[in-house]
Amino acid sequence: MPSFSCVNSPACWLHQKFDLMNNQKVKLLMCPPDQYAIRYVINPWMKLTRPSDPARADRQWKNLFDILTGLNCEIDLIKPEKGLPDMVFTANAGLPVHNRVFLSRFRHKEREAEAKHFRKWFEKQGLNVIEMPPDIFFEGAGDALFVGNTLFAAYRFRSDIRAHSLIAETLGVQVLSLELAKKRYYHLDTCFAPVSSKTVLYYPPAFDRYGQKVIEENIPDPIPVPKNEANRFVCNAIVIGKDIIMHYRCPETVKLLTNRGFRIHETNLSEFIKAGGSAKCLTLQI
Ligand code: ARG
Repeated sequence: MPSFSCVNSPACWLHQKFDLMNNQKVKLLMCPPDQYAIRYVINPWMKLTRPSDPARADRQWKNLFDILTGLNCEIDLIKPEKGLPDMVFTANAGLPVHNRVFLSRFRHKEREAEAKHFRKWFEKQGLNVIEMPPDIFFEGAGDALFVGNTLFAAYRFRSDIRAHSLIAETLGVQVLSLELAKKRYYHLDTCFAPVSSKTVLYYPPAFDRYGQKVIEENIPDPIPVPKNEANRFVCNAIVIGKDIIMHYRCPETVKLLTNRGFRIHETNLSEFIKAGGSAKCLTLQI
């Protein structure tokens, strides 16, 4: 497992940013759901016989947008492209760190073409785009999340473990690799949610025994979530300082977070759960 010291590294900067979030404007990338639909099946949540309702999806996405702007987030929009229904899940565009971004290389052909559009958008922002070699898959902030200075990164269903060492070497940060154990939890952000530099929500059965140990030994306050709430994508939550936005009706987790001083904003995202995503993966933090 690669381990690097962190002296003035981008991750230290990110850590500061994380802690300062309360006072700073958080910048997010979102993609309006104009092209969103269930057109293919690339994870166990998607079923061609269970289509999303476009009008409802539109309303749910707008409600999420309004909650985020209400929390003073600055939201940039990328144009939805025809034939790329999953582009709405901008968390998979790449992993931005300071002035660089590791561009995603999608595992499935169906999403492959998204990368060139996201690349253009990142370049327009003046970010330095780093590409994965052609044989290394990586699905961005869907599979790589900072907790303090440490990057927790998942592999198996979508991203390759070799992407992790490339990121560790480029940034000089510690990357802890976690193998995902269950197909329903195919991205890290479906089963693991950093809510501060010390506290993380996670669904233990989504990881193998070793992965659970890595989480428990490296995170001061790991909160296991119950199965029924994990299945309601409780870990796919957006964290803006002390405010947490998630799909509705996850009372046990809400209680645990409220006890820790967080404010919870629940919103219905049923139409996006049909594609295997919820609040967090509809956004990318820049
Ligand atoms: N249908 C999309 C896929 O399977 C959903 C992506 C959700 N993104 C995420 N970061 N969890 O790729």
